[in-house]
Amino acid sequence: MTATAVDLTITYLGLSLRSPLIASASPLTGDIESARRLAGAGIGALVLPSLFEEEIVAEEIGLAAALEAGAEDSPEAHGFFPPIEGATVADRYLANLERIKAAVDVPVIASLNATSVGAWSRYAALVADAGADAVELNVYRVAASPYVAGTDVESADLELVADVCRAATVPVAVKLSPYYSAMASFTHQVIQAGARGLVLFNRFYQPDIDLETMDVECRLELSTSVELGLPLRWIAMLRPQVPETVSLAATSGVHTGEDAAKALAVGADAVMMTSELLRRGPERVAGVEAELRAWLAGHEYESAAQLRGSVSRVTAEAGEAFERANYMATLRSWVGAAGRR
Ligand SMILES: Cc1cc2nc3c(=O)[nH]c(=O)nc-3n(C[C@H](O)[C@H](O)[C@H](O)COP(=O)(O)O)c2cc1C
Repeated sequence: MTATAVDLTITYLGLSLRSPLIASASPLTGDIESARRLAGAGIGALVLPSLFEEEIVAEEIGLAAALEAGAEDSPEAHGFFPPIEGATVADRYLANLERIKAAVDVPVIASLNATSVGAWSRYAALVADAGADAVELNVYRVAASPYVAGTDVESADLELVADVCRAATVPVAVKLSPYYSAMASFTHQVIQAGARGLVLFNRFYQPDIDLETMDVECRLELSTSVELGLPLRWIAMLRPQVPETVSLAATSGVHTGEDAAKALAVGADAVMMTSELLRRGPERVAGVEAELRAWLAGHEYESAAQLRGSVSRVTAEAGEAFERANYMATLRSWVGAAGRR
């Protein structure tokens, strides 16, 4: 089997993808030129940057305040407000989605980043109407209140997932954080709520402190392959437990074809990348694809799906390694400078 003959096609959220490599949400996928370059370099699908609930809420508050102020000053002033149509964050998002969808020949997945249930879920229907092939719902929450218990957080998230899944006319994948206390049980409930896929995991950006000014700094560090361990572990543990019809995507720490092969080997249907593409440019997709093809051919796999199908062997043989048994062994495997003496 030559590397070029390896079949990379895969099914993700019921969509047939030419490659398991997906560009996860980032400014690259939201820009028409870099979206075209990603598609040209062989990406399997694009996830657009998120439409954030906070942006929509802030805009609504600002608009209401402006209308109120205007109404008090002079009713005629209403006529001078700029037309609302075409100007809102959501409208701009939908227009960009339509443009990108028309510019590339691969599935385009819209991303919604929300925490609360309600009118917000109508955007799930709107992005589908605007041409999104699927929706990725990013549930990004920091449970900072001492009065909100884990069960409250989970039931609020599940309500949101169910709400969005009901409203969307296309498949919904849910991008989760790794911080739920009982991940397997929670993902089971997310699937029960209607999710067709899980995207594991959301990467949290930790603020830093500038010790000179005592300011809080929000600095975005790109990932390294070390971070792949977390999605690998959970995909390995979850794959045998979730129905085959539910897609699993690995995100965080995929930088090479070998990283992608590891994710497929533990049961991922798709492998997402952002940091690597931001660092090295959209054309890096072709390099990662070539590395994946070379690895598959070198190990006598005819297709990505075949490696993906080897999951039961990988997880059965090394099942314990992904669970607690690994903890003690890992600690004891450390051979530092002292150990080598
Ligand atoms: C600059 C930047 C912008 C991002 N924007 C979004 C976003 O809008 N929505 C989202 O769900 N994830 C967003 N992400 C997270 C990525 O989609 C991805 O999950 C994360 O970077 C981990 O993957 P990586 O290790 O390949 O970078 C962003 C990441 C970066 C670096």
